[in-house]
Amino acid sequence: MGFPCNSSSFSLLSLLVVLLLVGLSSQSPSVKETVGYDFICRKTANLDLCLEIFESDPRSAVADVKGLAQIADDACEASANQTLKTLGLLINSTMSSPILKERFETCVRYYDIVIANLDMAKRLLASPKYTSALDYSQVAKNYIDDCDALFQSSPISAKPAELEKVTKKSLDLVLIFRVILDVFLR
Ligand SMILES: *[C@@H]1O[C@H](CO)[C@@H](O)[C@H](O)[C@H]1NC(C)=O
Ligand SMILES: *[C@@H]1O[C@H](CO)[C@@H](O)[C@H](O)[C@H]1NC(C)=O
Repeated sequence: MGFPCNSSSFSLLSLLVVLLLVGLSSQSPSVKETVGYDFICRKTANLDLCLEIFESDPRSAVADVKGLAQIADDACEASANQTLKTLGLLINSTMSSPILKERFETCVRYYDIVIANLDMAKRLLASPKYTSALDYSQVAKNYIDDCDALFQSSPISAKPAELEKVTKKSLDLVLIFRVILDVFLR
């Protein structure tokens, strides 16, 4: 009994090969994949923080631009988590005035939304619709700004230094993330 290599199974095989090749080539879209993080970081407003997140993550060595965006997204989320933790401590502190406590609680709601949007951006980065991650990073940035703005509204209450430190880092990181998406992944 001969091997069933008639013309229809041969054309099926060629079709599979073509599909495989198309599949492989569509995995390399027209993004600038060879850009290193040091080049990217020089386009951001906080060079030191940018270098720090990539140098402290072993994935950076082999990451393409999308991989670097994912690393930046993780750093944004870790920072937003840190901000939530600081807010929790401040809410529980007997030192906080009722007006400040209310603002901290509003910030907790905003930072939950920040994290949800960063999560969505991360999911999109792993999908063919990766360019839409930029929109979610914008929403994340808006809610970080909204938390900051609460401390500029009347009556003006000073933002505690420990909160200023973590919210500034959250904002700087989301701006770095947005440079990667906006300049290098479009
Ligand atoms: C942030 O905190 C959430 C819940 O506590 C956790 O599931 C998530 O892994 C944390 N993310 C990072 C990047 O640390
Ligand atoms: C704040 O207090 C609540 C209730 O006592 C507690 O569940 C929570 O873990 C505390 N949060 C922090 C960040 O200490």
